[in-house]
Amino acid sequence: MSFLQLQRVTRRFDNGSEGLSDVSLDIEQGSMVFLTGHSGAGKSTLLKLLIGAQMPTSGRVVVDGSDIAQLGPGALPWYRRQLGIVLQDHNLLNDRTVFDNVALPLRVTHLAAKEIARRVRGALATVDLSDRGHLYPRHLSTGEQQRVGIARAVVNRPQIILADEPTGNLDPYLSRQVMALFHQFKDLGSTVLVASHDIDLIKDQGCRILHLSQGALVQDTQAPSATAEQT
Ligand SMILES: Nc1ncnc2c1ncn2[C@@H]1O[C@H](COP(=O)(O)OP(=O)(O)OP(=O)(O)O)[C@@H](O)[C@H]1O
Ligand SMILES: [Mg+2]
Repeated sequence: MSFLQLQRVTRRFDNGSEGLSDVSLDIEQGSMVFLTGHSGAGKSTLLKLLIGAQMPTSGRVVVDGSDIAQLGPGALPWYRRQLGIVLQDHNLLNDRTVFDNVALPLRVTHLAAKEIARRVRGALATVDLSDRGHLYPRHLSTGEQQRVGIARAVVNRPQIILADEPTGNLDPYLSRQVMALFHQFKDLGSTVLVASHDIDLIKDQGCRILHLSQGALVQDTQAPSATAEQT
């Protein structure tokens, strides 16, 4: 079943440039897929369309059978809250602690404070930041801030994770840890789409890779599964 779908989507900007040109694709529920391509290829544009932060100039973006452009002003924020979103510039609130930044998606739920705290601690632990909760984003390195953004994206146990260059500032060890975290979510049934230009990292993940170039989808390949561990 196609779960995330672009139907002949073009996104043109006011200055006439095209971020995405006539792209069609289907992503199955419960799969993990990478999006790659050169800088300016359209990766962030594609993710912003799926988030509903931008609307297509033509074509349709359909998620779980719903056309994003048809969601009303009430439904769009509700839809976005179902997503785990990692933005390229991680977008943390500077006047809130790391803990409060990660807790943000849970504040709109009816969860008890104790349960929120438990989940935030769990999310921080998965990105190796257990001891940083009380600090403010400015006290963290760029890579640590990026990991706070990842913890915030997964704290809600989202059914869909959309991540834009989530490992851009991370060393190889942490990058692999973040990939393992996304795999865990996929194994639990989440649909995961990750934009990354780190081709060495993504080709080892045994996942489908969508390749954009100048706004067009030019390649769609299924990487071979990781080889069995040597004994
Ligand atoms: N708001 C905008 N106005 C005009 N052009 C834009 C706008 N946003 C993006 N573009 C253009 O659309 C194209 C795709 O941009 P996009 O940010 O999607 O690329 P990307 O693949 O994410 O690149 P990077 O790897 O550098 O993050 C680029 O040529 C960019 O200049
Ligand atoms: Mg980008």
